[in-house]
Amino acid sequence: MRFIFRPPASHAAGLLTLPWEQPLEEWVDDRLLEVAHRGISRHVVRFVETDGLVYALKEIDERLARREYRLLGELETMGMPAVSVLGVCVERANGQDAVLVTRFLDYSMSYRYVFSQRHREHPTDQLIDAMVELIARLHLAGLYWGDCSLSNTLFRPDAGRIGAYLVDAETAEMHVALSPGQRVSDIEYAAERVGGELFDLQAGGLLPDDVDPIEVAAQLPRRYAALWDELTREEVFRPDEQRYRVAERIDRLNELGFDVDEIELITTEEGTRLRVHTQVAQTGRHRNQLFALTGLQTTENQARRLLNDVRSYRGHLEQKEGRAVPEIVAAHRWRSEVYDRALARVPESLTDRLAPAEMFHEILEHRWFLSELAGKDVGTTAATKSYVDKILPAAPKTLTVLPEAPGVPS
Ligand SMILES: Nc1ncnc2c1ncn2[C@@H]1O[C@H](COP(=O)(O)OP(=O)(O)OP(=O)(O)O)[C@@H](O)[C@H]1O
Ligand SMILES: [Mg+2]
Repeated sequence: MRFIFRPPASHAAGLLTLPWEQPLEEWVDDRLLEVAHRGISRHVVRFVETDGLVYALKEIDERLARREYRLLGELETMGMPAVSVLGVCVERANGQDAVLVTRFLDYSMSYRYVFSQRHREHPTDQLIDAMVELIARLHLAGLYWGDCSLSNTLFRPDAGRIGAYLVDAETAEMHVALSPGQRVSDIEYAAERVGGELFDLQAGGLLPDDVDPIEVAAQLPRRYAALWDELTREEVFRPDEQRYRVAERIDRLNELGFDVDEIELITTEEGTRLRVHTQVAQTGRHRNQLFALTGLQTTENQARRLLNDVRSYRGHLEQKEGRAVPEIVAAHRWRSEVYDRALARVPESLTDRLAPAEMFHEILEHRWFLSELAGKDVGTTAATKSYVDKILPAAPKTLTVLPEAPGVPS
């Protein structure tokens, strides 16, 4: 038996004492957990908590496991939205399959979980958009997924939107660039799978009545084509339009959550031809800025939202104190006087519902809602109190790990 782990290997210490010599399905260990409504899988997949972290273990053919391990590692290095791989256990006793170990994606939900909660009215649209964005990012990076489905995607709330992450890379292939044919085949396969998965939800009574699986599945290639066009389209314009058209295009890509890697302007007889190379990794501008100012680690979208609040707090401080307040000072004060103070009001029993930054985002939304009702700003303290009393307890447990009854295989 052999373990191959990506650093930091210290994380692996607790994992080493699991019963690797037995088939994963038969493991009995009080560190095993059950995850509610996880995606459908062919393989045995189980979850384990050790040293305060949760991992997903998947028993698969050794060759596939090594491939998936390598690919997930590459995707992580590229900053792609995918689960993070820790290692593989190979050469197990009696020729058993290998076990791939990934980090459980915190606060993530499977599509089955999203629909079982019915906490958002029509998540279908958001799920499809999130998937389309994920596929486009992977394709820009040269990854052919080959097995894109709702089951192989994880979803996570992201400041009013939903972020999608790749969870299963067994069939994926990395290329220098994908041909249009490869991209089309990937997306058509995805549409077929999504259609099937939605029919399956419908049969289980989980799909809202007005959602038509066929129509939603058909949306997938359409939305993908529109996004791909936005991301990669070449444009021709007159020399006098050049400056604002280039700026406009970059703004639009940033708005979609993509960065521009390189711009190429080629003079032709028809005018100037603009070629943009879109960055594959998730943009990190706001995330980095928020981290530098406050030490908080969030998604890009959450960071954008929180930075707005930092800015508005700075304005408030300057007005109150009648002097200029440097950004870094305002950000530090915001962190302790606003952000930490609000989250400190969340009872321990409810802290697992959402990522802290997402919870703060919801508090801001709630503040806006209450202020609209009251016709005046109610303030963050009152909004937090009301959110904690009335909204949060009804929120689904998004960290879906549940203790498992001892000895019951998943
Ligand atoms: N790292 C992880 N974090 C959160 N959930 C996970 C993770 N890994 C797996 N899961 C959950 O377990 C399910 C099955 O995992 P996975 O898709 O890798 O298994 P599979 O057997 O290869 O599936 P397939 O039938 O597509 O081959 C996923 O749909 C997801 O819900
Ligand atoms: Mg799968």
